[in-house]
Amino acid sequence: MAVLRRLPGAAATAPTVARAIDGNVHFYATCPRGLAAALAEELTALGAQNASADEAGVSFEGPFEVAYAANLESRLATRILWRMTRFDYRNENDIYEGAKRVRWHAHFGVERTFKVETNGVKAPVKSLDFITLKVKDAVADVFRDALGKRPDVSSREPDVRVHCFLDAKWCTLYLDTSGEPLFKRGRREQVGEAPLKKNLAAGLLKLSGWTPGQPLLDPMCGSGTILVEAAEMALQLAPGRDRPFGFENLTRFDAAKWAEIKAAGLARAELIAPKPIFGSDLYGRSVEGARANLRDMGLESVVSLKQVNLLEISAPAESGFIVTNPPYGVRLGEKETLADFYPELGHLLKQKFAGWNAYILSGDTDLPKLIRLSATKRTPLYNGAIECRLYEYRMVAGANRRP
Ligand SMILES: C[S@@+](CC[C@H](N)C(=O)[O-])C[C@H]1O[C@@H](n2cnc3c(N)ncnc32)[C@H](O)[C@@H]1O
Repeated sequence: MAVLRRLPGAAATAPTVARAIDGNVHFYATCPRGLAAALAEELTALGAQNASADEAGVSFEGPFEVAYAANLESRLATRILWRMTRFDYRNENDIYEGAKRVRWHAHFGVERTFKVETNGVKAPVKSLDFITLKVKDAVADVFRDALGKRPDVSSREPDVRVHCFLDAKWCTLYLDTSGEPLFKRGRREQVGEAPLKKNLAAGLLKLSGWTPGQPLLDPMCGSGTILVEAAEMALQLAPGRDRPFGFENLTRFDAAKWAEIKAAGLARAELIAPKPIFGSDLYGRSVEGARANLRDMGLESVVSLKQVNLLEISAPAESGFIVTNPPYGVRLGEKETLADFYPELGHLLKQKFAGWNAYILSGDTDLPKLIRLSATKRTPLYNGAIECRLYEYRMVAGANRRP
């Protein structure tokens, strides 16, 4: 484990800079709430050391280059943040002073634009916007003191992002190695009604236990987010293969090392599963949107798509996984219509999907009760700000079959 030491001269309550002295650096990966444990496993498989999950993400250590692999390969992370400093604070000025102790000019060039974002949980400060301003001033002042000039701020497309996290006692400052969040995989897409974020879709697959080669069905596929993630997993395609990353704008960026890691990721692409992935939706426009998305990514041949009412489908294989997020009505009236739909969904699973495991994401706790099957697991997950559950139904083979 990396050893932490306080820098000489730093008092216990004054801003301190924690640094691993074995060459490792500290990272924090954010993710949708509910996926942190799965993300810790994923990052460990990618070379992260001492991965430790909390509510909002995973802290880990490793050589700087582990950020290249994590950004390129993680399906579950939202951002990979490189920790610059962590210190206890009592007021806004402590935050300015702590931010000023970081040698920002050693981490990015003065010609780069930057942006500061602040998030807080139980932070004893009046305004997070004011903290953003203080950190921005500190970064600019460090550059001005060292170089006589300061980088510009860009709020729309910054080259470099600084993240400030506050809790009741601690302020942590990070440089973002991802840039745009990682659920943006770098392609323009057709979006349907309420598309899932890519990392949440990948998280549903991960939590279901589905692995490429096993039959998979999303019978309410919308724009096909779950199908696209599954098809990429079946082809072993790196999720970040087509996009730039924030680390490319940092001084520490090693282009040769990155080229090597990326080339290894791209060389691996290979088809494991010929055609066990199935998707359908009630609406032709959804199916066409999903088809266009799969086609644009060269994944069309991996997924069988059709337009059909879920209530009319039959199982495409003896056993397999259903992973899906049905509509859950937020407007009055929608909920009443759905109250008829959910019992039919339960009936369908019982009658036609014996031998299958179904994983259904819902943000409504009343509707799944209407499925009238007992869930074997309910995993809390967040779809943005919406608290959801992933309901697991294991349909026992033979139990409900008609003669
Ligand atoms: C919440 S959206 C799914 C979004 C999708 N996961 C995505 O990321 O794009 C629910 C989908 O269920 C579909 N749907 C609703 N009723 C259906 C039914 N009876 N049969 C099949 N699909 C249905 C809707 O057309 C919609 O695309």
